[in-house]
Amino acid sequence: MKIGILTGGGDCPGLNTVIRAVVKLSTRYAYEVVGIRDGWKGLVDGSYLPLDNDKIGGILHKGGTILGTSRTNPLKHKDTTAKVLENIKLLGLDCIIAVGGDDTLGVATGLLEHGVKVIGVPKTIDNDLSGTDFTFGFDTAVSIVTEALDRLHTTTEAHHRAMVVEVMGRHAGWIATYGGLAGGADMILIPEKPFKIDEVCDVVRKRVERGRHFSIIVVAEGAIPKAVGKTIAKEAETDAFGHARLGGIGELLANEIEKRTGVESRYVVLGHLQRGGTPTAYDRVLATRYGVRAVELIKKGKFGRMVALRGNEIIDIPLEKGTKEAKLVDMDIYKVAEIFFG
Ligand code: F6P
Repeated sequence: MKIGILTGGGDCPGLNTVIRAVVKLSTRYAYEVVGIRDGWKGLVDGSYLPLDNDKIGGILHKGGTILGTSRTNPLKHKDTTAKVLENIKLLGLDCIIAVGGDDTLGVATGLLEHGVKVIGVPKTIDNDLSGTDFTFGFDTAVSIVTEALDRLHTTTEAHHRAMVVEVMGRHAGWIATYGGLAGGADMILIPEKPFKIDEVCDVVRKRVERGRHFSIIVVAEGAIPKAVGKTIAKEAETDAFGHARLGGIGELLANEIEKRTGVESRYVVLGHLQRGGTPTAYDRVLATRYGVRAVELIKKGKFGRMVALRGNEIIDIPLEKGTKEAKLVDMDIYKVAEIFFG
């Protein structure tokens, strides 16, 4: 058995942990593993690196991915699709483990129709993949946001300011909700719930009235001000999967708060800090369990599946179910966070 493994889309802590688990267990079964470089791009270019136990030494806790990643969509053009199929044949790959979010796994689903045997492993710090309770990387991102909010609290309070903290979350506000809840945000704005800027200003004003001369507002990058009616993007340009580069909601909001309330305001964009560095213990365990299950599925000859977490159990579901739609924030959890607004 010769397995190809690739990591695609935005990186996240825990990718190397999956690679390590896949190689370790595959070695035990005497399967060969080939690492494809830079996501689907590596299969277009024929760029790869053979993996063995030596190559995965010391990577468990390292962020990023030893394989590299990209946002390449080979299915966009006939010739790149053909290249991928040709290279799979040339490399003699029996199957592919694709570790990625909705875009990468969407390509994996598309390749099933071309007869490619694929297993999907869900990853994204955004935690917005349907079919799984949690993706690895999310817990790490939430920890980073929580620590940032703890630090921002002290400086914001000292200066009697309003601080707007922009976090990742294009379609869903999981990071904002969990991070904001853990970090004691005074308001959390998420893509699922378009908001009025005046509602935010009311929170800031009311806090001042009751002697709380500072406010922390957490906003997901994909949050939508009702008056604007759409997400805020810095550039009109989109990537190979048609996504705009979001950004700017934090700045917009901080400016409006200062203008409308007179409270001095600042904004911080946590950006890629949320994706870098070492994975938490939770993410290491989850990523390892996903990697192990992916190899077990190969052993059973069960392809076209995505590994997933349901409760505390690792299950597998049809690949297309994992990418069908974005998993939005559980409003029961958001309502818990709302108790602490204002
Ligand atoms: O991985 C998903 C994500 O974290 C989104 O929340 C964000 O919009 C995007 O990646 C940014 O990715 P990049 O700037 O690396 O293209």
